[in-house]
Amino acid sequence: MDRLSDALLQYHDRSKHRVNRYAPGPHELDWIAQPNPFREFHGAPRVNLLLAADTFHTRYNEVRCGALPSAYGIDLRNLSILFELSLGLSAWKSYRATRWALRCNPSSGNLHPTEGYLVCPHLPGLPAGIYHYLSRDHLLERRAAVDDSRWITAFGGNGVLVGISSIHWREAWKYGTRAWRYCQHDCGHAIAAVSYVAAALGWQTRLLEAPADDEVARLLGLDRSDDFGTAERESPDVLLWVGHPDGRPDIERMLTASDAAAWYGCANQLSANQVRWPDIDSIRLATIKSRTTELSAACAERRPLPAAPALDLSFAQVARQRRSAVDFDGTTSITSAAFFAMLECLMTRSDTPPWNVLVSPAAVHPALLVHRVDGLEAGLYVLVRNPEALSSLQTSMRPEWLWEKTGPDHLPLYFLLPFDLRASAKLISCHQNIAADSCFALGMLTRFVSAMQEPWRYRHLLWECGMLGHTLYLEAEAAGVRATGIGCFFDDEMHALLGLNDHAWQSLYHFTVGGAVDDQRLSSEPPYERQG
Ligand SMILES: Cc1cc2nc3c(=O)[nH]c(=O)nc-3n(C[C@H](O)[C@H](O)[C@H](O)COP(=O)(O)O)c2cc1C
Repeated sequence: MDRLSDALLQYHDRSKHRVNRYAPGPHELDWIAQPNPFREFHGAPRVNLLLAADTFHTRYNEVRCGALPSAYGIDLRNLSILFELSLGLSAWKSYRATRWALRCNPSSGNLHPTEGYLVCPHLPGLPAGIYHYLSRDHLLERRAAVDDSRWITAFGGNGVLVGISSIHWREAWKYGTRAWRYCQHDCGHAIAAVSYVAAALGWQTRLLEAPADDEVARLLGLDRSDDFGTAERESPDVLLWVGHPDGRPDIERMLTASDAAAWYGCANQLSANQVRWPDIDSIRLATIKSRTTELSAACAERRPLPAAPALDLSFAQVARQRRSAVDFDGTTSITSAAFFAMLECLMTRSDTPPWNVLVSPAAVHPALLVHRVDGLEAGLYVLVRNPEALSSLQTSMRPEWLWEKTGPDHLPLYFLLPFDLRASAKLISCHQNIAADSCFALGMLTRFVSAMQEPWRYRHLLWECGMLGHTLYLEAEAAGVRATGIGCFFDDEMHALLGLNDHAWQSLYHFTVGGAVDDQRLSSEPPYERQG
């Protein structure tokens, strides 16, 4: 094993929660050092985005079926919708003297390590440049003005780039070593959130596989030490192409064109003091990505459409009302038809969000602990999202599992064990009731050895998990139930349940879906005071 794979394995095992010992974290929370959830660049010119999502009528069911509207123009108004419904605020909540914002994208502990950027040519209402999105005020901060003829041609088609970065300290402040994993999950949720809104606008989204992390950092201005000073740095995550599917952005050309750009703004300090987590430094370094070749999308098989959800909601409503359940009633059930439709939405389709983003084949397979799905026996199921994984999963798990194909013919769902798994689900999820009182809970099995061979792929696996989770969040809302991401789980308890004895397969994220019980003590206010 080489040095990087070794560092990755060490981090992965050290960041596991165990029944008798949680992963290293702060012993108590230093409230004085709590990081500001909003990054801003003081001195950067600001462009107010419009609050136009109310005028936007695409239906959620059309988006999930890939029946996308004709492409909207790429202009300030429609980019405003893109940001508002993906990374924008969805409400302000308060309880007694405490007030906090919720966003369309979820985040572990609501700490929001994810930052969003826009890289665009000159567009109606928006000059060419590199912008940072400030969700608190729904505006763009112009970090760089680019005036170079090569900039326009570098986009290679009608579209823009959305960049994502993470401030690991925001999560590490509360969660210590395991926080880095949560940052990657959150990034996956953000990728999915962007791709869903883009699709609702008739645009396609594609994750650019080739760029190296240092190229992403350079393009987004994350490597500009003087602009950050002592402020917390951002780690480059990903560039997404958003627009016409044929767009071929040339990042090297963009970088050359941006060399002479005028840069504006200095990053705000988020925290009074920062604690170093050596495990996070080590995994960050082990998973740095260098330049690779751009992959072209494999021709995905055509799949049947998922059945319509129980509620026919507009896309904007689903995106805004998405919430994490904090408690489930322990009685609600869903129909097997609704369950199968949700699972169908987890299957990859090349033109349907969020799976249009990825060119590589599905690498994450949900192991489902079904508690209350009408017409379906309670027990353990696995959705094998990529047929090539089937035999490896079968040989890696307990030999006594049934592996009985169940559900609609086209859905690669297998029934492994009839059993009431509520107590196991709760135990595995760090004793959280939400995993037992729901209709079903799940762990996301990933082919971990692929990450061991190329450590940067660990990040991609965690992103794919976040993308699956995001689909479940939206699907749950449309089905009239609610979901919650579960980052806190005892990794090896899940592996023991399944009979996984080595690192070939690891569960990297958990989820739960059921009938939510709202916390009546909280008050809610609209996300933005200004109109339009
Ligand atoms: C990666 C991730 C891990 C999470 N883990 C848990 C968890 O273990 N338990 C829980 O109750 N909520 C969990 N959540 C839900 C967050 O607490 C929730 O997203 C956050 O408070 C914001 O609320 P919202 O989703 O309603 O916008 C998780 C969310 C994410 C994205």
